[in-house]
Amino acid sequence: MAFCYIAGMDHFLYKDGILHAEDVPIPEIAAAVGTPFYVYSSATLTRHYRLFEEALAGMDHLICYAMKANSNQAVLRLMASLGAGVDVVSGGEYRRALAAGFAPERIVFSGVGKTVEEMELALSGGIRQFNVESEPEMALLSSVAVRLGKVVPITVRVNPDVDAKTHEKIATGKAENKFGIPISRAREVYAQAAALPGLKVIGVDVHIGSQLTDLEPFEQAYLKVSELTRSLRADGHTIERLDLGGGLGIPYERSNLAPPLPLEYGEVVRRTVGDLGCEIEIEPGRLIAGNAGMLIASVIYEKSGEDRDFLILDAAMNDLIRPAMYGAYHDIVPVIEAAPGEGQKPYDVVGPVCESGDTFTKQRMLNPAQSGDLIGFRSAGAYGAVMSSEYNTRPLIPEILVHEHQFAVIRARPTFDEIINRDTIPEWLEGSD
Ligand code: LLP
Repeated sequence: MAFCYIAGMDHFLYKDGILHAEDVPIPEIAAAVGTPFYVYSSATLTRHYRLFEEALAGMDHLICYAMKANSNQAVLRLMASLGAGVDVVSGGEYRRALAAGFAPERIVFSGVGKTVEEMELALSGGIRQFNVESEPEMALLSSVAVRLGKVVPITVRVNPDVDAKTHEKIATGKAENKFGIPISRAREVYAQAAALPGLKVIGVDVHIGSQLTDLEPFEQAYLKVSELTRSLRADGHTIERLDLGGGLGIPYERSNLAPPLPLEYGEVVRRTVGDLGCEIEIEPGRLIAGNAGMLIASVIYEKSGEDRDFLILDAAMNDLIRPAMYGAYHDIVPVIEAAPGEGQKPYDVVGPVCESGDTFTKQRMLNPAQSGDLIGFRSAGAYGAVMSSEYNTRPLIPEILVHEHQFAVIRARPTFDEIINRDTIPEWLEGSD
């Protein structure tokens, strides 16, 4: 079964009926840090990174981990130690990349709305390349580079107008999306870029969306990039690098979906652009981090409603927003394995936030649970902690990294004082109570 490469190998397994992250029992972490928390497996992160290395073996390449998926410093340090590059989309992410030990020449700067400050930061600190997305951005980047006495390597992100067949909020390669330059206008835009003194055109960039579970859209997009590369070369440009973006999907619903393997994705890359003699960059985020993490929560109450039963958890939409935002599915499993033959019943699983949207799932068949039970959300390592907030003054939850039998808190839960003291009261309100 295709999905076994992840499902069987994500290092979150039951041992003697207790869910473990690698060799660490989840209840041990819960006792040490309290719930809810995120827990990541180093072995799974490493394995997923290596799957891409294997997939692109034999081609000149750099895997630029898309840190928007999970930008914890410890996760980044692990990626850097494996030899990865990194894809950043803000000045904050650029700073995180440097702090985690990425060499500037392994940092790619993407994003549709880069500011002057972000350009200055990356130009001064060093950068592998900017992926530019519009003509005004090109002009601004060139002027900033000239002012700083630099010439910056760029690719232009093209929008190939391909249907990625994914959720509308994470599709980026259709003409209607805000991303990139229409591929039909690419030659004209490259000519403009080549004339700008602060820019050095080196390649082409494309990213068509996230959580793609079919290789066909990649194939279509990369064929268009191949064709464009030939035309651009004929126009006299040096195209030596292709950034093919991220987007390969993961099996959120294990029983149901078997997305393509990185190895199969690598074949598509080879087949479509492998003959161009370009260095290949890819920007995977979700496939590296997604199944390397779980969100662990406690049941506060099992509540019987008029026509349904609820599990009310101590985790909520502010901790994991994907179900509320995209209607996303996450497998929910008990930390203590159910006894064989124990029945299941339908639950709505919800958090304590004061909105009906704070619902992780409706009418999911689960083992009966009661107050104090630990449950886990699988596939929560990507776009989990990074998208969380402190809505309802619920502190950001801790992140834990496991390595074999060890675990470490890699982001601590803030105290309430820290949260409250971030706010300040203006002078004119001081003393009024
Ligand atoms: N490169 C670019 C330019 C991107 O915009 C993205 C994701 C990636 C790479 C990484 O894509 P991945 O390999 O992770 O699919 N919050 C959403 C996902 C947003 C993805 C945004 N861009 C979610 O929770 O599903």
